[in-house]
Amino acid sequence: MNELIGNDIEKAAELLVAGQLVAIPTETVYGLAAHALNEEAVANIFKAKNRPPTNPLIIHLANKEQISDYVTTIPGNAHKLIERFCPGPLTVVLPAKDIVPSIVTADRATVAIRIPAHPVAHRLLTLSGIPLAAPSANPSSYISPTKAEHVLHTLGNKVSYILDGGECAAGIESTIIGFEDDIPVIYRQGIITADDIKAVTGVVRVYSGTATLAPGMSAAHYSPKTPLLLTDNIETQLQQYKAKSVGIITYDNYVADIATDRQILLCTDTDLGSAARNLYAAMHTMDNSGYDIIIAKKFPDAGIGRALNDRLQRAAAK
Ligand code: TXA
Ligand code: MG
Repeated sequence: MNELIGNDIEKAAELLVAGQLVAIPTETVYGLAAHALNEEAVANIFKAKNRPPTNPLIIHLANKEQISDYVTTIPGNAHKLIERFCPGPLTVVLPAKDIVPSIVTADRATVAIRIPAHPVAHRLLTLSGIPLAAPSANPSSYISPTKAEHVLHTLGNKVSYILDGGECAAGIESTIIGFEDDIPVIYRQGIITADDIKAVTGVVRVYSGTATLAPGMSAAHYSPKTPLLLTDNIETQLQQYKAKSVGIITYDNYVADIATDRQILLCTDTDLGSAARNLYAAMHTMDNSGYDIIIAKKFPDAGIGRALNDRLQRAAAK
């Protein structure tokens, strides 16, 4: 048994209070957590991930009542979305109070806040009594972790402890929402879709600009070391890569004429929630299988399919 991984929530809480880095489970992906108000501890997150200091962090809180400790105002629509989706896979970007260290916000006037729904994360936040700054627990720009072992393999030598909470139920990162004159603007798509937001607020925009408002959304991200190709038509692409060793990530049905042990089927139907849950684990497995190239099938461009295509497009970008 590896002592670095375990399910001792009290140990994790003590380490975090003492300023150490601990990988923690959430319902989206594992986070690399530190005491959000301890600047030295937060600086170690950036070092461990090799993350650019210009990319701000999300603060995780135990419950929504604590949000007003860290933000100056909560616009009406933000309030409605928090009531509907928190705790859960939603991150809200709001004007920051001075108590939030500038290393967390990367010197921005806003701070990103999330209340995770994972019971272990909730217990840890309650027990430690501190806010936790936590990006996804992967080296910067690599695939996010959805199992404790993913963290062990990529950041195992950088953390004091990996709190194991099992496989992440949602599997892709939270939906991030900012507000412009109270209009919700989606900076990062997720399991909570634009339609879900619109159903609550009556209005929503999807941010399509460059990095200014959503600094972490660079074109190349979530990338395996193995080249990844995203396509509507795997069969045609396979003709082109005949001479290569190819791994396939698909959904719905296996690709004909290719051994199934070279393929990962993300879901056996079109339940894209299961596809989201399995996507990163599939990418980790494929990346460790020694293929020349990974070919992935594009999802229908609607609902959760949009969030999945977003991740795959960034994984495919150079
Ligand atoms: O599901 C999640 O959100 C996971 C779990 C661990 O909570 N966390 C996560 O963190 O994905 P990270 O750091 O990998 O992605 C957070 C994103 C980055 O793209 C960052 O630029 C953006 O949130 N962000 C953070 N603060 C922001 C702010 N004040 N304004 C705009 N974007 C912000
Ligand atoms: Mg990340």
